[in-house]
Amino acid sequence: MTQTMTRTLYDRLGGGAGLRKIASDLVDEHLRNPVIAPRFSKSDPEMVKRLAYEFFAAGSGGTETYTGRDLRTIHSGMNVSEEEFVATVDDVLKVLHANGIGQREQEEVLAIFWTLKGDVLRI
Ligand code: HEM
Repeated sequence: MTQTMTRTLYDRLGGGAGLRKIASDLVDEHLRNPVIAPRFSKSDPEMVKRLAYEFFAAGSGGTETYTGRDLRTIHSGMNVSEEEFVATVDDVLKVLHANGIGQREQEEVLAIFWTLKGDVLRI
């Protein structure tokens, strides 16, 4: 069995240190992305980076605890559009690629994000 098959997604994304960097780069990317940046105009970037890190870590097999609100609660009342959702996921894939994460891991993350769209889109 290859390492790819046995290592958790968390490990393959670089573990705690790798995910802190990915989460930080992701929030920076969102703040540069004209489709979604306006949504974060009142946000504290450091807080969003920390919660994004915890979310990725807890969701990929790490032992970290996610201390944020559940996805549906956060995004309720925002009426997030399909265009915003696609822009967000594109930022995720771009940042994973830029951090040297392989195609297989990018596809796994993409699949997870897709399953979350009902708790984010148009609610
Ligand atoms: C599957 C896609 C998404 C996931 C997994 C996700 C995840 C998260 C997480 C973990 C947080 C922080 C938790 C907290 O504040 O308690 C958050 C906050 C937020 N998200 Fe999302 N999100 C997604 C898509 C989107 C989209 C498409 C938009 C709109 C462009 C958006 C806008 C926001 C905003 C405005 C906040 C609040 C930031 C703040 O509290 O200052 N999200 N999201």
